[in-house]
Amino acid sequence: MTEIIITKPDDMHLHLREGKLLEAVIKDTEKQFARAIVMPNLKNPVVDVEKATVYYKEIKKFSTIFEPLMTLYFTDELTLNEIKKASDSSIIIGIKLYPAGVTTNSAKGLKSIEDSYHLFEAMEKTDLPLLIHGEVSDRNVDVFDREKSFIDNYLIGITKNFPNLRVVFEHISTQDAVSFVNESSHKVAATITPQHILMNRNDLLSGGIKPHNYCLPVLKRSTHQQAVLNAAVSGNPKFFLGTDSAPHLRQEKESACGCAGVYSAATAIELYAEIFEKNNALDKLEDFSSTFGADFYQLPRNKTKLKLIKNENTIAKSIKFDGGEIIPFMAGNQIQWQSLAL
Ligand code: DOR
Ligand code: ZN
Repeated sequence: MTEIIITKPDDMHLHLREGKLLEAVIKDTEKQFARAIVMPNLKNPVVDVEKATVYYKEIKKFSTIFEPLMTLYFTDELTLNEIKKASDSSIIIGIKLYPAGVTTNSAKGLKSIEDSYHLFEAMEKTDLPLLIHGEVSDRNVDVFDREKSFIDNYLIGITKNFPNLRVVFEHISTQDAVSFVNESSHKVAATITPQHILMNRNDLLSGGIKPHNYCLPVLKRSTHQQAVLNAAVSGNPKFFLGTDSAPHLRQEKESACGCAGVYSAATAIELYAEIFEKNNALDKLEDFSSTFGADFYQLPRNKTKLKLIKNENTIAKSIKFDGGEIIPFMAGNQIQWQSLAL
């Protein structure tokens, strides 16, 4: 196969940031994604519909072809009234839960999940999806075990207590998460990033620390990587594309205390295409990237198309924009596919 045409994909988990960075990131994203679910963990988090509307308009200023699907940040101050407003809003797709302190800009996240059960109940009733960063932030739990600990201590409880709540387990990184999603009802789905398929913790820690491969959830051992890959190419509609592309300036990554996040927005679909091809599953790429996510979120499928051609090319070593420099995911590596908008 040297050329395929697919329905233009959706990125069901994306960080767009603000200001100059937002402008640069949108330009990369709109080339390959028709829509994306936009994460709310800005420095000043998107905690209500009013803030989401301002952010939505800001994003739309930079692109006429890209449709942002907005999320609210689940805080301890979230109210039943705001949930009602969110479910009535045409721009809000769901509410994103970060356990407090778990990752970048998550200080305002939830301190007690059990105390929010009345809000989950309201979301279940109004059929508003709950998007979860599924890791505990407990410093006593080993960083490699935090996803499993979250499943055991919280996710099982949430999905048992609210069987009709649509839950997206974001950026899964373990065999445990794959099994959990497989064994759950069709109301539970997961996003899968390129980094959790392509890399394991050796790529982060062996032969020198590689800050540009540092993300959260942190990369795991290769058995987990294999499980995540198998889920992605399985053709199971519970698993769909979400890059978790999360740009940070070069100096914020190459630092004594480097930020978590890899920037893959400029080449994400090419990376997924290569993964699916290598695993004899190119025929399943379109479902993973353009159908399963849209169906889960009850969105119409995109009408626009994207062409992918086999054309070996090199991922940029660095992306400079008016405001700084970002080192993209797998900078300087060869990739086999190239996307062309139609
Ligand atoms: O690696 C990550 N980066 N994981 C997250 O959960 C947040 C993200 C970010 O915002 O930088
Ligand atoms: Zn994220």
